[in-house]
Amino acid sequence: MADVKITISKNGGYRVDGDVTLVDHEGNEVKVREGQRINLCRCGHSKNKPFCDATHNTVKWDNELAKRG
Ligand code: FES
Repeated sequence: MADVKITISKNGGYRVDGDVTLVDHEGNEVKVREGQRINLCRCGHSKNKPFCDATHNTVKWDNELAKRG
């Protein structure tokens, strides 16, 4: 089993630690630097999706997590 940790930042994106394969909706691999932590956008405002580019700091967005069932 892969050793991957995904951390939901309080006011930012998803920090992914560990080796993962990132693919788009068609299954095409999105290149990530091997061995590097990646940050995925969860605010929807990044100009470099799917990666976080820190735009979340300059726009208004709801950073509340969805409530569990
Ligand atoms: S979460 Fe950082 S730009 Fe969207």
